[in-house]
Amino acid sequence: MDYLQLQNIDSLAGTIEISGAKNASLPLIAMTILAKKSVTITNLPQVADIRTLLKLLSNLGATVTFEGTKAVVDTSVLTQTKATYDIVKTMRASILVLGPILARFGHCEVSLPGGCAIGQRPIDLHLKALEQMGAHIEIKSGYIEATTPNGLQGCEIIFDKITVTGTANIVMAAVLAKGKTTLTNAAREPEVVQLCKILQKSGVRIDGIGTAILTIYGTDGKLLDIDSFDVIPDRIEAGTYLCAGAITQSEITLTHVEPKHLGSVLAKLEEMGNTFTLTENTITIHPAKEIKPVKLVTQEYPAFPTDMQAQFLALATQAHGVSIIEEKLFENRFMHVSELQRMGADITLNGHTATVNGKTALSGTDVMATDLRASSALVLAGLIAEGETNIHRIYHLDRGYVALEKKLEAVGAKIKRLKE
Ligand code: UD1
Repeated sequence: MDYLQLQNIDSLAGTIEISGAKNASLPLIAMTILAKKSVTITNLPQVADIRTLLKLLSNLGATVTFEGTKAVVDTSVLTQTKATYDIVKTMRASILVLGPILARFGHCEVSLPGGCAIGQRPIDLHLKALEQMGAHIEIKSGYIEATTPNGLQGCEIIFDKITVTGTANIVMAAVLAKGKTTLTNAAREPEVVQLCKILQKSGVRIDGIGTAILTIYGTDGKLLDIDSFDVIPDRIEAGTYLCAGAITQSEITLTHVEPKHLGSVLAKLEEMGNTFTLTENTITIHPAKEIKPVKLVTQEYPAFPTDMQAQFLALATQAHGVSIIEEKLFENRFMHVSELQRMGADITLNGHTATVNGKTALSGTDVMATDLRASSALVLAGLIAEGETNIHRIYHLDRGYVALEKKLEAVGAKIKRLKE
């Protein structure tokens, strides 16, 4: 198993190119199931989660090539409709194939994803919505078995909670359904917006893109002509590197980034004393001379993303004063706290709220990555912790960050990937 070793540095300097968004790529890859011929996707991030979903499609019979940042996926030859446990257990987002496979073939089996380090993460809202559309769903031997005895019918769906992959799944099912589906309380994340825009460009009428009410006019089973497209930049990767600039109090520039997707993150970094120069697709952070504390609550887009909570928690350890960070989306997303405490952070956890007393000097030690974003928080801490930090179990990090150690090394970090 690989681990990362970091030594503290005085500062970083230079430019980091942001990769395509993992969370946009996953639904877009699943979307190829709705296409009548092969689809070319560019600006995909070379990360484990993308390879996993492409492997799932290829196990189902699709023809898949993935080189550099380009994948060509042909699902016209797809024959199987069962997503097996061995793949789904490694990536919960595999559930994204449920909606499109069911809509296209009228039957689908997907292994139930099971538990997750950051919370229970049920998929009840996906299933309830598909049932409303006419699917018959049973859970048997750990699998969701779904059929559509009379095809999928458009209908009115109201999500009890905003769910990102739930919205993507139901939009994709609704595309091939008969009639109009109205989805209220839909997710508005840029990744969902990109999915809807590409479907729209492929001839599907979708009203309300980017709002909480989406109306999808189904094609009644007609497969789509999907042109090649570029995945949007990864706003979470970008946010993580902005935090690297902020925590090391360094000026760095991000390229290939979409500043307008980072509004809430930039606002919180500004509250902490950083300023920015923005162009259409670059962001330069001018760091705070003295980092100020922050109060933040994670919520659905366009509010502050839960996927940036761990990184801000690491940053808050270097702020002068008391920061309060509240996690509203996932019940167990504070596993990084105990690792940061081992490095010397002064953090008190009370339910869903972390209170961080700064500034504390951190010291390097052996720490364990517990989930994808928690891993990057430990990397941020390792950049400034006195001495050597060894971060174990970085397979979590490899699920979502493209060549993180190379990108950081290029701007001056002392970081190495080693074998246990
Ligand atoms: C997506 C992102 C993930 C991010 C999360 C929240 C992808 C691949 N992953 O995950 O990085 O952290 O959004 O922004 O895009 N819920 C239910 N029932 C459901 C579905 C969700 O109760 O059927 C709850 C979840 O437990 C959670 C909340 O709704 O508390 C939001 O979850 P959801 O938006 O579905 O997260 P994901 O789509 O899995």
